[in-house]
Parts: sequence; C-alpha cells; structure tokens
Amino acid sequence: MREKLQNLKNEALAQIIQATDPEELDRLRVHYLGKSGQLAQFAKELAKLSPEEKSESGQIFNDAKTAISNALASKSEIRSRSEHIPKSEIDSTLPGIRPPTGHLHPVTHAIEEISSIFEKIGFVRVRYPEVDWDWYAFESLNMPKTHPARDDWETFFVDTPEDKEMGRLVLTPHTSNGQVREMERVKTPPIRMINIGKCYRRQSDVSHTPMFHQFDGLVINHGINITHLKGTIDYFVKQFFGPKRQSRLRPSHFRFTEPSFEVDVTCDICNGKGCKLCKEGWLELGGAGMVHPNVLKAGKIDPNTYTGFALGWGVERTYMMKSGLKIDDLRLLYSNDIRFLNQF
Ligand code: PHE
Repeated sequence: MREKLQNLKNEALAQIIQATDPEELDRLRVHYLGKSGQLAQFAKELAKLSPEEKSESGQIFNDAKTAISNALASKSEIRSRSEHIPKSEIDSTLPGIRPPTGHLHPVTHAIEEISSIFEKIGFVRVRYPEVDWDWYAFESLNMPKTHPARDDWETFFVDTPEDKEMGRLVLTPHTSNGQVREMERVKTPPIRMINIGKCYRRQSDVSHTPMFHQFDGLVINHGINITHLKGTIDYFVKQFFGPKRQSRLRPSHFRFTEPSFEVDVTCDICNGKGCKLCKEGWLELGGAGMVHPNVLKAGKIDPNTYTGFALGWGVERTYMMKSGLKIDDLRLLYSNDIRFLNQF
C-alpha cells in the first residue's frame, strides 16, 4: 500500500509538471483527486486496514494528497499569471518577471552591524567554540566549581566524561568563554577583540530562546580604565541606536569583572523622560566591567602590568531595543515563518 501510494504520488507530480494546458490540469485533478479518482480508491482500501496499518499508511496518504493538491494549485497559478497575455502580444524584449528574492536573517544583519561598528575602532572579530570546557566558560572566569553564581547561567552540560583539568563540556552559556581563550591566543597585549557567537541556556519564554547570540568585547593593555569602557559603550550606543541615545553604568556584580556594571540605554519611546515601557527612562542592555585580576592570571597575563575591560550583551535583545522594533515574542525570530521574517 505504502509503495503504491508513493508511486501514485510520483506519477501524479510528474504529469502535473509536464501538463501544458488548463484542460489537462483539470483532467488530472479529476483523475487523482476527484470523487471516484485514484486517491478516493485508496481511501476505501485504507478503511479496511488494521488501526496500526491505518495510521502508518494514512500519513503517506495525506502526504500524497497534499503534495498533489499543492502541485496543481501552483501550476494553475503560474498558468493564470501568464495567460492574460495573448501570444501575439508577447514582447520578448521586455525584462522578465523577477523571482522574489530573500534577504539575510535579521539577527545576521544585527551581527554584521555590530561587528562593523566595533571593527571601526580597531576591534578584531573572533569566534570561539560553542561547545567548550567548563574551564573557559566558568572556572577561568573566577567561578569555582561549586560557586552559586554559576546558577545564573542555567547551563546545558554535555554527557561526556570529565577532563581532569578542563572539567566537563558545556554548551557555552555566554560568549565570555572567549576571554581567556583570546588571552592565550594573543599572549602579549594589546588585545581588542569582539567575540560574537551562539549561546545556550535552559530557558524559553517570550523574551528568551534556548539558543541566542551574544557579543563579548575585551580590551587589555597598559593603563586601561573605566573611562575607556564608558567611551567605547557611548560610541557603540550612538552608532547602533542613533546619536540621541545615551548610556549609563549601574553598579552590578559579575565574578569575572571588578568593578562590574549593568549598562542601560535611554528609552527610544520617551527619550529618557520615563514612560510605561521603561524603568524611569532607561532600558537595560547588558553587563560590563573591568577584567578581574584572577581572570588575567588565568590567561597568563600579569595584572600588575596590564588592565582591561569587558562587556557582554545579547544580540537579539540589543537588536530589539533599536528604535521602532517591538517583537512581542523573541521565539518568532527562530520559528522560520516567512510571514514574520519578510517584515524586516
Ligand atoms: N557574560 C555575562 C553574561 O552572560 C556578561 C558580561 C560580559 C558581563 C563581560 C561582564 C563582562 O551575562
């Protein structure tokens, strides 16, 4: 039965593709989908099967039926589009009808924009593993094995044996795993990296997807201080969000930066005055801070000689805060629904 249905579907599709006039399409429609057509015969056979067989062959039956109806519908559409031009009036010198073209995914656009903004001030775009050792994701970032701060990262662990030095493998819950990796790569500062990549956390609701993107900026050199951090953030905020937007640093806590900040940007609706959509005029962007000496040590950089700053924000979140973009459910970005994606 399954094989017969497959054959019927293939045969029908081949005939539909080859059909050249509307009468033929009508004839094929009746032949396959009509009341006493081929599929109707199969439906009768289906009814006689046992429940298990019915569910298995039923699926193939439905699949064949949808494929044939879709093929008939799209073939008729193509025909009707060209039909209204009588053959004698076809002007072969006119440009043809352009097929619809797609565009890059909005998140890819955001990533390109973010990297080009940072590249203009000398940051180098790097990529580090998305499945990485505990050492890079946590331990080297001043978060020992049992530290409660780790809970904030709702991490997926990979079910593989633990490495004695590196620990377990994790799906990176943040792009900060690139910080010590970059120190190891460059060895002697200056370092000016922007690491953009996928991150994974055990969370899924209107403002979270289990897979998302972050970018981590890291600068290490002689005499780097908070003014460099604030200047870089201001520059980014004005480039990405527009010249009127302002940023501020709020005290916060991360194990890998000291002092640590939460970065806010003025709300695009009220411009900082305060409205229903923001916290007294400000929207929260992400984290930042001065690199903790223990992190520099983990990357074999002498904290008495060098200092640095780091910042790490979510790409989707940052993108949504751009003026005019209000996505009520972040999960839509990854649902592959063309009606949603076409709007960008
Ligand atoms: N990695 C942090 C997070 O995921 C953000 C951060 C990066 C904070 C760099 C400070 C410095 O929340």
